[in-house]
Amino acid sequence: MSTPPLPAPVEAAVGHAAEHSFPRYALPEHLRAIAGVRATPAADDGLVPTDLPVGTGILVATRRPRRPWPHRPQPVTDHPHPAAGHRPPLTPQPPARCPGSGPGSGPGCGAAVRVFLGPDGRTSVAQGDEMTTLRARPPSVAGVERRRPRMRIAVCQNKGGSGKSAMVVNLAAALAEAGELVDVADVDPQGNASRRLAARPAADQMTISEAIKRDALGAARDAYVPCGWGGVYSERIRVLPARFELENRISEAGTVGAVKRLKRALAGCDDRRVTLLDCPPSLGHLTQLAMVAADVVLIVAEPEFDGIEGAVRVLNFVRDHADDLNNPRLRVAGVVPSRVRSGLGVHDFQIAGLDECFPGLVWSPHIRERAVVKAAADSVAPLRSLRTAPAREVAEDFDKLAVQVRKLMEVAA
Ligand SMILES: Nc1ncnc2c1ncn2[C@@H]1O[C@H](COP(=O)(O)OP(=O)(O)O)[C@@H](O)[C@H]1O
Ligand SMILES: [Mg+2]
Repeated sequence: MSTPPLPAPVEAAVGHAAEHSFPRYALPEHLRAIAGVRATPAADDGLVPTDLPVGTGILVATRRPRRPWPHRPQPVTDHPHPAAGHRPPLTPQPPARCPGSGPGSGPGCGAAVRVFLGPDGRTSVAQGDEMTTLRARPPSVAGVERRRPRMRIAVCQNKGGSGKSAMVVNLAAALAEAGELVDVADVDPQGNASRRLAARPAADQMTISEAIKRDALGAARDAYVPCGWGGVYSERIRVLPARFELENRISEAGTVGAVKRLKRALAGCDDRRVTLLDCPPSLGHLTQLAMVAADVVLIVAEPEFDGIEGAVRVLNFVRDHADDLNNPRLRVAGVVPSRVRSGLGVHDFQIAGLDECFPGLVWSPHIRERAVVKAAADSVAPLRSLRTAPAREVAEDFDKLAVQVRKLMEVAA
């Protein structure tokens, strides 16, 4: 029986993945461990393509000299290519490129590992002249999520109309302008953030609702649509859009494990740096789905009694129920006063008392109430495109908040 040739691996040393045109997804944790892939700050956090066509492979260069496998796989007992009848010969090993040090290997450059996706969907790892087939093992949420090269921020407030969606949309824009890749997950059936970002899924395209309903790891992968504003916004902002149909997920709240479904749907999909989750004005099931998936909560609060009371409810809810939500590390990262009208007595009074209510949590700048925010929302356009002084002012407020978000991510990394 003739041996089908093993396809030549596609070379994609860590740190050079960006040179290739593959969509990049995080290497699954179990392969990461075996391949010894180590993330480097300059290496796009170790992202390499793993959704390769069947039968192709990638070359991964480890950063450190040879070291023992963290988990040595068992020798092959079955074949990566069933048709071959025996273990396929390895193609000659091209020299590993050392991340950040140009072509060729150099000091600090370690073993080269090739990862192949076989025609049967099984993954093989080759090092030197050894090839090992990894037994199909569905990645666990914990496995996929153990290393998070990104931060998920749930934007919450129990009171409606306080500027959550405005915060998500304009913060996403500011982060994108600053060069970040941003995902917006619209967890509100009203779909305001989706509409304002001009994220228009086709009628038959899945949205966040179907992704949650599917209840599978990575189910959200096919649901993202780019922001429709054009330019850097379309390049850098993706939206997991919502339709009113999302309301139907609420009735499933009583199903065992339902609250983990969004986290499962996002697993491995949002390998971008920031995901902003726009929550509905409630602490019910949809917000809880977001809180289970999130790393931190950002509260938006109008400086009025009801707005502050709603913010206190969110703060207490996170403190009291993070464990119940199976996310004990969830915390409130900040409270952003929004729709602030300076000179309005009640706003000045409430702002003066904010530090007492939320010690150490109040972010500045505060987001001013400006008609231009409504105008941008209604015209489905970024604030900066309105080119007026108030639009610039508010956009600059969001730029400053974007700086704080980036700092938050640096601290968490
Ligand atoms: N800073 C602001 N200045 C003026 N209007 C604002 C501002 N933030 C939000 N709005 C407007 O207030 C209304 C409610 O805001 P929205 O972001 O939809 O709140 P939420 O998502 O909390 O319900 C919308 O019409 C929105 O355009
Ligand atoms: Mg909203």
